[in-house]
Amino acid sequence: MGKALDGVRVLDFTHVQSGPTCTQLLAWFGADVIKVERPGEGDVTRGQLRDVPNADSLYFTMLNSNKRSITLDTKNPEGKKVLEELVKICDVMVENFAPGALDRMGFTWERIQELNPRIILASVKGFGPGPFEDCKVYENVAQCTGGSASTTGFRDGLPLVTAAQIGDSGTGLHLALGIVTALYQRTLTGRGQKVLCAMQDAVLNFCRVKMRDQQRLDRGPLREYSQFGEGLPFGDTVPRAGNDSGGGQPGRILKCKGWETDPNAYIYFITQAPVWAKICDVIGEPEWKTDPNYATPAARLPHLNEIFTRIEAWTMAHTKFEAMEILNGLDIPCGPVLSMKEIAADESLYATGTLVELDHPTRGKYLTVGNPIKLSDNDVEVERSPLLGEHTEEILAEVLGLSGDEIERIKTSGAVGETVRLAAE
Ligand code: COA
Repeated sequence: MGKALDGVRVLDFTHVQSGPTCTQLLAWFGADVIKVERPGEGDVTRGQLRDVPNADSLYFTMLNSNKRSITLDTKNPEGKKVLEELVKICDVMVENFAPGALDRMGFTWERIQELNPRIILASVKGFGPGPFEDCKVYENVAQCTGGSASTTGFRDGLPLVTAAQIGDSGTGLHLALGIVTALYQRTLTGRGQKVLCAMQDAVLNFCRVKMRDQQRLDRGPLREYSQFGEGLPFGDTVPRAGNDSGGGQPGRILKCKGWETDPNAYIYFITQAPVWAKICDVIGEPEWKTDPNYATPAARLPHLNEIFTRIEAWTMAHTKFEAMEILNGLDIPCGPVLSMKEIAADESLYATGTLVELDHPTRGKYLTVGNPIKLSDNDVEVERSPLLGEHTEEILAEVLGLSGDEIERIKTSGAVGETVRLAAE
């Protein structure tokens, strides 16, 4: 068994969520990820939403597995020199600072290439070139500007952001693909290149189907949206569609037994056309198989509210897991709405490494989400996140090959701040 990115060294100059998710994935594919952090505080997320006093937060620990941490004040001349040395020996540099921050630090693309023409410089920014390119951006800003918020929620409610971090983690995922693609191209050309992923673009990529609907709207109403069946007119922009699913397979979230007290006693039910007859049988409406109002997908579209009300009467008589079992047995696509608590208790997710329990020297045991991408020849174990500066000396000595005297000089200059000494783990 191997490591897919064995031998790839990543200079991880990222913070918060978008960049760190990208480099965490690279680490899970076996790259040596060296996270550069400001002495003293490090990545701001170490201290955000803390649940254990004086210990790195879950926010940080769940985004920075399998990395090494070096503290470096890159505005200190010695610190800058160390960063330059790291640029020279790394294959990839990843950053998600505010626009212009890296240039202000003296690391323009030209300078980076001068130091290492083979390096891949990968950046997350809020926007690509254009009117907003200088803006700082966080998750929900990207969801709003990438088309997700305007199309999420109910027609008569506010635009909604989604809990899935499509702006941050979604952009990190896109960036990781850009990086491995650039690494592949480098094997052919010998040259590095810049990889840019704008959060607005990543969100829009996830909202591709809504841009499809925007164009379909010019040619008539969106017949699979509930508002069509309700006879409500469409405007000139894609409306929020609640829980309607698209394509030719209308779906809704329906109540299940216990919904009155359990906020997650719901199931997503899809009226997939090929299994319509089975749906009619299971809900006790066998005549709908031949009734011209229900027999074909097109005929059903104006009756979706009525159809789902009838299906819901059936789902409400079952728990979400009973309904799932019955429907799965009939090949009818459905999915129970699982709470985070239920997911955290799912043994099968631990068996695949999608959920992993780790031990941490200052916070104790914690749960994290492991690598969702499974490669048959990549056996990297998920490891805890590093303490701030835990590997500073190790990186200076082993990666950069500096002598004890040189390391002492760097330490005296203040470039690395306090170095961490771990009690034997
Ligand atoms: N040593 C010295 N200085 C350091 C440093 C180090 N190790 N690491 C960072 N800094 C400095 C930067 O050089 C910058 O200084 P400058 O403003 O004087 O040039 C400063 O720290 C702050 O960086 P910045 O990125 O502006 O942080 P912020 O907290 O103000 O903004 C974001 C945070 C996320 C809004 C911003 O980084 C951003 O828009 N990033 C791109 C989009 C993105 O990834 N957003 C999602 C985050 S999940």
